[in-house]
Amino acid sequence: MAAASSKLFQALFLLGFFAATANAQLKVGYYAKTCPNAEAIVKKVMDQVMDVAPSLSGPLLRMHFHDCFVRGCDGSLLINSTKNNTAEKDSPPNFTLRGYGVIDRVKEALEKECPGVVSCADTLAIVARDVTVATKGMYWEVETGRRDGRVSILTDAFTLIPPSANISTLISGFKARGLSVKDLVVLQGSHTIGISHCSSFTNRIYNFTGKGDVDPTLDSEYIPKLRSKCRSPADQTTVVEMDPGSFKTFDDGYFKLVAKRRALFESDAAMLDNAETKAYVEKSVTAGSTFLKDFGESMVKMGRIGVLTGRAGEIRKVCYKIN
Ligand SMILES: *[C@@H]1O[C@H](CO)[C@@H](O)[C@H](O)[C@H]1NC(C)=O
Ligand SMILES: *[C@@H]1O[C@H](CO)[C@@H](O)[C@H](O)[C@H]1NC(C)=O
Ligand SMILES: *[C@@H]1O[C@H](CO)[C@@H](O)[C@H](O)[C@H]1NC(C)=O
Ligand SMILES: *[C@@H]1O[C@H](CO)[C@@H](O)[C@H](O)[C@H]1NC(C)=O
Ligand SMILES: *[C@@H]1O[C@H](CO)[C@@H](O)[C@H](O)[C@H]1NC(C)=O
Repeated sequence: MAAASSKLFQALFLLGFFAATANAQLKVGYYAKTCPNAEAIVKKVMDQVMDVAPSLSGPLLRMHFHDCFVRGCDGSLLINSTKNNTAEKDSPPNFTLRGYGVIDRVKEALEKECPGVVSCADTLAIVARDVTVATKGMYWEVETGRRDGRVSILTDAFTLIPPSANISTLISGFKARGLSVKDLVVLQGSHTIGISHCSSFTNRIYNFTGKGDVDPTLDSEYIPKLRSKCRSPADQTTVVEMDPGSFKTFDDGYFKLVAKRRALFESDAAMLDNAETKAYVEKSVTAGSTFLKDFGESMVKMGRIGVLTGRAGEIRKVCYKIN
């Protein structure tokens, strides 16, 4: 117990240090003077989008994750490939990302009122908060002041943690980005909204180790249900809800699924393989969940990963290409 809490203290201390040096200039209300309506402008567009296309909430939330986990939260994910360069956007993990047009629309509205002021990286961070709120999650104050990167490289996206990752890969991948074990389990909770392609988990229901077997950590009674949706191991096109029945509602349903061993990915099942993540799952299911509040706190921390501030990078005029 003593060892565990001193480790936790160390992690928090290091995290504090990391945060203090890496994001000296991120703050809530960064645009208060330069574009006071920035967040209201984003919200106005997002309200319109969520009215007609609520299913974009999951992909738009994931966009901020993908951006931050590759090269830091610098909007590099949004850049289109050019003749000379294949960008992050065109890497295989991009397949379920949609909604780039929405980001373009939000940015256009921002440029109209405050040209050259609000970064694409900040736009992604604010949109992520707004879609969470639009799906009945809890509001948090978004830190802003990020600048946009000028580099986006296909192979960088291979540093994303795959849905097949085990608990040690997950923990070390988060730690390398200044995020704790608690942040890990909390941020995984975002699988409460959105959908997944069958191909991200069909190995678990058809051919787990190459012997035509199934993943023993998956509820065996649930496997026929998943098979009836994902008809073959080769299925590349079918999508399924990550939190069936409530995939458009940001709630703590994810933890119930994990506890019942019915979550889709190996990286979800892995939440039961570490004492701290397991305790969080169990607390969320039985003792009263603090997930909605915790989520905002972990999102703020995630939003600090590798940010560019001050005079680094640029403020892109359009999000899909460097100035
Ligand atoms: C593409 O690469 C060539 C040669 O390296 C360079 O001269 C040109 O400016 C590049 N074009 C773009 C659009 O980056
Ligand atoms: C994802 O990458 C593929 C190429 O690997 C590309 O054809 C596709 O357009 C990309 N998807 C999006 C949404 O950018
Ligand atoms: C670049 O990507 C955007 C999506 O952000 C798309 O709408 C646009 O057509 C693309 N532009 C070019 C020149 O490929
Ligand atoms: C977790 O996955 C990594 C990468 O695939 C592997 O090297 C490692 O041995 C695995 N750890 C455990 C405990 O299975
Ligand atoms: C399972 O995977 C192995 C190894 O990739 C392959 O040889 C085998 O044909 C697969 N079996 C089924 C039933 O798909």
